[in-house]
Amino acid sequence: MSFARYSRLLPDNLRRATDARSSLHAICAEFLAQSEDKLFERLALNYPLVLRLSTFVPRKCEMTETALTELPTDFASFSRDVRRLARERDAIVLAHNYQVPWIQDVADHVGDSLALSRIAAKSHAEMIVFCGVHFMAETAKILSPEKTVLIPDPNAGCSLADTVTPEQVMTWKKEHPKAIVVAYVNTSAAVKAEVDLCCTSSNAVDIVNSLPADAEILFLPDYFLGAHVARVTGRNVSLWMGECHVHAAITPVTLRRRLEESPDSQLLVHPECGCTSAALYLVGAGEIPAERTHIVSTGSMVDFAKNAGDAHVLVATETGIIHQLQSVNPGATFEAVNPAAVCRYMKMITPKKLLNCLRDREMTSYYEVKVDEQIRLRALKSVEAMIAIGTPSSFGE
Ligand code: 13P
Ligand code: SF4
Repeated sequence: MSFARYSRLLPDNLRRATDARSSLHAICAEFLAQSEDKLFERLALNYPLVLRLSTFVPRKCEMTETALTELPTDFASFSRDVRRLARERDAIVLAHNYQVPWIQDVADHVGDSLALSRIAAKSHAEMIVFCGVHFMAETAKILSPEKTVLIPDPNAGCSLADTVTPEQVMTWKKEHPKAIVVAYVNTSAAVKAEVDLCCTSSNAVDIVNSLPADAEILFLPDYFLGAHVARVTGRNVSLWMGECHVHAAITPVTLRRRLEESPDSQLLVHPECGCTSAALYLVGAGEIPAERTHIVSTGSMVDFAKNAGDAHVLVATETGIIHQLQSVNPGATFEAVNPAAVCRYMKMITPKKLLNCLRDREMTSYYEVKVDEQIRLRALKSVEAMIAIGTPSSFGE
């Protein structure tokens, strides 16, 4: 049986873990094809990930899709329906930058995970409909327990978030009793409850810099973002070996090839990418100028795009961002470094599911994101630190 077919047969949470494993397969293939860039180091570092991927927290979802709604064939009537239903339910619709175009275009706010968390915390609406993945909706619920938070598909998880469990965090903390634990927002509420601070890609450096200079820091779960933060801050950071299968597959070899094809391009790289170190290496080696290389969150990519004039811009992240970049600056050309970098979990949120979620009041409990109150209270302190620290992305706020 092929790997792809095998993966399709697995339950959702195991499939996400398998996605993370499949990125290791990609690394192996790349290593065999080209042994430069010290790929073997990364391969060796990732073996513990394979071992750690054996335990997962299953989430119970009885249904995968309700089929009440026929999707209008044109965006104008879809948008009218969503706006009317949102008004009737006193809901705001938030969409992450990786969502499909219709959802980005109909949402009240589109942004990166930090901007959306801040908007969720400030909103006076009774209901938040979160078009993104589950941990993002959970973060909104942690910040706004009095609001009803809905997600149009409760199965939209995250392969990166599934690489670490609360039990694993507890064990890691026991091994480093004096360490401060910083978790990327791409984690479950139960993991957030075990850590000291959370961060997103847009404020990870600020968060780590806010800690005492001699602190021992444990950073989880994303290895590439953690390595980037350690490099920029020069702090004593130990890394969890988790990774996002979508970003890990944007590899140094692909990046180098795309830069050879378009040598005068600007380059935007999300720090979760497998090619982040390669981009910095190419800057260090003088192969691409530092002023054309930007390692930033999706929100900062949008900020950059607004002032990019008619530039040609290569973008290393999930391809949904291209729609947002092109919308804020139709004069520039934005191209994905790897057009296959599509997050299937983000794309589980479809226009039809958004309409169903808003329309079908009897199914509210199916769509509702709930967080146990004891876990929420423990997670709240780390999430509050996350939204308080760092320069907000101007977009979406
Ligand atoms: P941002 O914080 O840049 O929105 O990224 C979130 C994410 O899931 C990246 O894969
Ligand atoms: Fe998770 Fe983002 Fe990767 Fe999708 S692209 S699996 S949401 S980290």
